[in-house]
Amino acid sequence: MLNFTFKNQTEILFGKGQVSEIASRLPIDANVLLLYGGGSIKKNGVYDQVTDALKNTRFVEFAGVEPNPTFETLMKAVNVVREEKVNFILAVGGGSVIDGAKFIAAAHNFEGDAWDILTKKAAFENPLPVGAVLTLPATGSESNGNSVVTKKATSQKRAFGSPTLQPVFAVLDPVYTFSLPTRQVSNGVVDAFVHVIEQYLTYSVNAPLQDRFAESILQTLISEGPKALAEPENYDVRANVMWSATMALNGLIGAGVPQDWSTHMIGHELTALYNMDHAQTLAVVLPALMYVQQDKKKDKILQLGERVFGIVDGNDGSRIDRTIKAVQDFFEQMGVSTRLSGYGLDEEAVDAAVANLEKNGLTALGEHGDINLEKAREILRLAV
Ligand code: NZQ
Ligand code: ZN
Repeated sequence: MLNFTFKNQTEILFGKGQVSEIASRLPIDANVLLLYGGGSIKKNGVYDQVTDALKNTRFVEFAGVEPNPTFETLMKAVNVVREEKVNFILAVGGGSVIDGAKFIAAAHNFEGDAWDILTKKAAFENPLPVGAVLTLPATGSESNGNSVVTKKATSQKRAFGSPTLQPVFAVLDPVYTFSLPTRQVSNGVVDAFVHVIEQYLTYSVNAPLQDRFAESILQTLISEGPKALAEPENYDVRANVMWSATMALNGLIGAGVPQDWSTHMIGHELTALYNMDHAQTLAVVLPALMYVQQDKKKDKILQLGERVFGIVDGNDGSRIDRTIKAVQDFFEQMGVSTRLSGYGLDEEAVDAAVANLEKNGLTALGEHGDINLEKAREILRLAV
């Protein structure tokens, strides 16, 4: 096992009605920025519940954080924070709103061009504390320090992170997910699945506990994901999907093991260029990447096949092929196409994504740093 430090500061408030707890978790002199997206929370009653919980708290609102939040919009929110002297950000929404809150928290007293926080890893001081009310189980953003922001002007999607940005609390009420459109339910399950894979499907460092954690999350997503599509108002199913997505990327399963993240980095370029949903890009890239990287990932692919999909007979080559196919079938079963052509894209998109990887200096990806531009091209070509 590799050395690691592990601390997760997020207090999880899980279950029906837990939003009523938030006022007691805010600082006494709280002046809150209530941050949300395009308005889904106004239709499903979450906005009313949150503002009711804040009835004795000072707050201002900022609405309109887009899916794949943009630097341009978030800087407007930074101005509100400065003008209104906000000292706490409450993000109500999916990963985009929570990621946006973290960026605002970091940028509020940054002098100079705040885009440097994303591209140059520029240091920031005294970020504002963030709390989250999660409405879309997918990213794990509610319980980690990561944030992904897109600059519209240059079609760049970049990530940054710090433990200081991790939400201090996160409300996870499965009822809030009943109103999700099918596409977002599917996206969430696929994203969480791939988060586990990025931390599991590398090479063994003799960390069987992390392996079993990862496999149990994958198994839960495979069994509960399709049920969430079939029975949108089944509370227990929603609860299990929600907790799986949080556990997939809250630092626990990735502690002490090598991590990959190349599927995500390649996928981000497709979103930046073509506005594909985050999970759609992952469903396209992962099966092709497993195929191209099968020699390096052989032992873990065999283990995934055996323990998660029950693939035990046949020679190694056939087991690897069937495991990749099983992953692909699961994404398709969740209604997420695994081909670029499924999103109207062709070879041109391959060239554009590879050019963007080069522009962003992403030329040595994966747990071995061996996914160069040539390999990225091979992966994307396979996925057309
Ligand atoms: O904006 P509103 O109106 O709220 O609608 C949203 C949005 O259109 C809607 N939605 C959310 N909850 C809903 C709902 N609609 C009805 N009922 C509800 N309960 O869903 C749409 C998508 O929301 P979004 O927040 O964009 O989705 P997601 O949670 O998948 O977040 C994606 C973003 O997170 C980043 C992605 O790159 C992408 O920018 N990621 C963040 C990570 C992290 N912080 O650790 C890791 C991930 O790998 C990922 O990169
Ligand atoms: Zn993801």
